[in-house]
Amino acid sequence: MSYKQQYAKVLQGVIGDALTLEQIEQLIEQPKHEDHGDLAFPCFLLAKAFRKAPNMIAVDVAEKIDNPLFANVQPVGPYVNVFLNREVVSQEIVNRVLSEKANYGSSEANGKTIVTDFSSPNIAKPFSMGHLRSTVIGNALNQISRKKGYDVVGINHLGDWGTQFGKLMVAYNMWGKEEDVRAEPIKELLKLYVRFHEEAESKPELEDEGRAWFKKLEQGDEQATVLWKWFREVSLVEFSRVYDMLGVQFDSLNGEAFYNDKMQHVIDLLEEKELLVESEGAMVVDLEAEGMPPALIKKKDGATLYATRDLAAAVYRLETYRFEQAFYVVGGEQALHFKQLFAVLKKLGFDNVDGMHHVPFGLIMKDGKKMSTRKGRIVLLEEVLQDAINVAKQNIAEKNPNLANADQTAQQVGVGAVIFHDLKNERMNNIEFDLEQMLKFEGETGPYVQYTNARANSLLRKGGYDGAAFDGSADDYAWGVVSMLNQFSAVIDRAFVRREPSIISRYVLDLAQSFNKYYGQVRVLEEDAAKQSRLALVKSVTIVLTEGLRLLGVGAPEEM
Ligand code: ARG
Repeated sequence: MSYKQQYAKVLQGVIGDALTLEQIEQLIEQPKHEDHGDLAFPCFLLAKAFRKAPNMIAVDVAEKIDNPLFANVQPVGPYVNVFLNREVVSQEIVNRVLSEKANYGSSEANGKTIVTDFSSPNIAKPFSMGHLRSTVIGNALNQISRKKGYDVVGINHLGDWGTQFGKLMVAYNMWGKEEDVRAEPIKELLKLYVRFHEEAESKPELEDEGRAWFKKLEQGDEQATVLWKWFREVSLVEFSRVYDMLGVQFDSLNGEAFYNDKMQHVIDLLEEKELLVESEGAMVVDLEAEGMPPALIKKKDGATLYATRDLAAAVYRLETYRFEQAFYVVGGEQALHFKQLFAVLKKLGFDNVDGMHHVPFGLIMKDGKKMSTRKGRIVLLEEVLQDAINVAKQNIAEKNPNLANADQTAQQVGVGAVIFHDLKNERMNNIEFDLEQMLKFEGETGPYVQYTNARANSLLRKGGYDGAAFDGSADDYAWGVVSMLNQFSAVIDRAFVRREPSIISRYVLDLAQSFNKYYGQVRVLEEDAAKQSRLALVKSVTIVLTEGLRLLGVGAPEEM
């Protein structure tokens, strides 16, 4: 039970059933200023029941509270402020962290499933910055959801189907060379794709040919299928390198193509419910009542679309995973697509559509402009990550030239810096991509948190921490750290409910800061009777920082 919950219980004992326990808990605040205690209860809502002014109620209530958990109870205006007993509370919290270790803050398994659709790059195209954001945000949400006790199915809904593959086949047959594609698949396929569009401007018949090839592919033509499989395979090899660098894994790589034979099922369902109507030769679901343009399900020529495959995917996932929630971690520009998708599913009568959420995010900018992969201005993600690792390597060489596993650490720091930079601000914000900034050891960066954690670990080594417990002697600095440790599970809750990893990033920054204040003021390694107890506090900080970073998908080297 959290201290807030405990306070709520004590309050209920005093005020009786004028308010429910939940109401009391919801009313309890954390005072902005520490002089006002650790928790505050506003009495406004009791005025009616008690026929008294809130200020007077506060005085009465404060007088009646007598509990060893609180060192001090004070009425301040309409509030009842309590100061937690630092000794009792800090012992309890630190020792809980020490005994639960990485499980601190975890919820028990709840047997429910969350399906996340994340990363989902398009085959034969470079992995874009937008896909990087989806990958990183989705991965963090997966870790956070698992921490909350959910079973998570992480799906990479690869963009591996659609008319563009017909075009690519035409281009490859005309200008492609096998050995070039083998050597640098995505670069070469992109070149072919760009050339196709250039030439199609003067030769529009190429477009028809592209459509014809896609049709062949849809009908299972052998030559087309062999090419498609090959494009997909070589692209995946390149993507895997990026996923390995990022430390991201998927439970399923069922991309758009997987739903080819599952679209008819959805079309049947739509027909059964008489939801399909004809519009200029195409088949659509009318969404006028929902205030949206119609959802296009089948084109005039019978071809299906991105939306059709998403509909099939959603139905498949609903039926296969019986999820409680589904997250689609996809850029904000697809908002309408997902609104339409959910609206159609509702019309079909699926009942847990309310648990399906589009999780949008902002753009990555470079010098104020959208960082893009189009028209040759390609930024290859792998190179970006490699650059970050190289800068981290230089930093380490300057700061700690004798570091044992410098390469692995540089990898964790470089990649961690990119991930942290992405997750630091609310996901809807645009981010400015600035390698130098994100790799700084000070300020609000991943390396700052990692470095703080490494420093704490080095204290443990130097001090020879022997596994002692924390004795509860908490000065203001230790108390600052303990209060942060105490907030971990509430922070995880908030990050989960809002689907907002930045809440965890903010938290690890704050925890690192409070630890650095402590470290700056307290001589942790002083040889006195309390040294091991201080190290116990330090140990608990490394546990929570490491776990917090893990939830973000960022490594926590013990030395750097
Ligand atoms: N491949 C798509 C794109 O790059 C993203 C797919 C997102 N997931 C989905 N189920 N639609 O725009």
